[in-house]
Amino acid sequence: MIVLDGKATSAAIKDEIAVEVEKLKSAGKKVPHLAAILVGNDGASQTYVNAKVKACEKVGFESTLVDLPANTTEADLLKTIDDLNNNPEIDGFIVQLPLPEHIDEDKVTLRVAPEKDVDGFHPENVGRMSLGLPTFLPATPNGVMEMLGRYNIETSGKHCVVIGRSNIVGTPMSILMSRNSNPGNATVTLTHSRTSNLKEVCLSADIIIVALGKPNFLTGDMVKEGAVVVDVGIHRIEDSTKKSGFRLVGDVNYEEVAAKCSAISPVPGGVGPMTIASLLQNTLKAIKSK
Ligand code: GUN
Repeated sequence: MIVLDGKATSAAIKDEIAVEVEKLKSAGKKVPHLAAILVGNDGASQTYVNAKVKACEKVGFESTLVDLPANTTEADLLKTIDDLNNNPEIDGFIVQLPLPEHIDEDKVTLRVAPEKDVDGFHPENVGRMSLGLPTFLPATPNGVMEMLGRYNIETSGKHCVVIGRSNIVGTPMSILMSRNSNPGNATVTLTHSRTSNLKEVCLSADIIIVALGKPNFLTGDMVKEGAVVVDVGIHRIEDSTKKSGFRLVGDVNYEEVAAKCSAISPVPGGVGPMTIASLLQNTLKAIKSK
């Protein structure tokens, strides 16, 4: 059984990016600059944004964190986005989701200039991805593709079941896996809360990508012998034996499922670090495509 080590794979990608940054520097060119907008004080979002900023430093990018209070108005957030759109120093930026309830996420996504949308969330970039045109691919699904590619996981002609149809992960994941590319060329089933025979569908899968946001959802009895399982979920579960008071688990019951798999991504240290590597790749792309 192979553990798909996202931490090591992401470190290798970051090393490659750092080399590219050095090349830009020695050619007297601008270093990529990523900005992140964080609204409010959601603990998990703060952790993710801090990890993104730290990763920028690691590869030699410039980074800016725009930390706004939870009561920021929608108008003020849109103005902040306009400022970043118009700031030539900033090559790409993200608005960390979820946003406080009084802010319309769709309006925010639409306001980000597509050429700076390194999350790949703007409808123009989603459309380009769907058509297979050059664009910023969304970080999490693209991180999964990179992981499968770097571990030489065969996807062509395989049955890939994606669990969860979110705009950020499940839906783009199904598009990328079915594309005529390597990795890709899979026969994809996109499942969701209304899928009636999920267990049977999963039992026929060669590859299962789980992104529905329920701790330990995928159990051993849902997985066929030799399947490849990628776990996109991440949850804090109370655990008094830990100093922090919690431990991290994914959407997959790791012990049960790992016993049957040919390859599996762990949580933590699987897809999470790949998402960050993928965001850095997009930011490098933003400066190179200028
Ligand atoms: N929240 C959860 N995942 C993501 C992501 O990939 N990008 C942003 N901006 N917010 C998120």
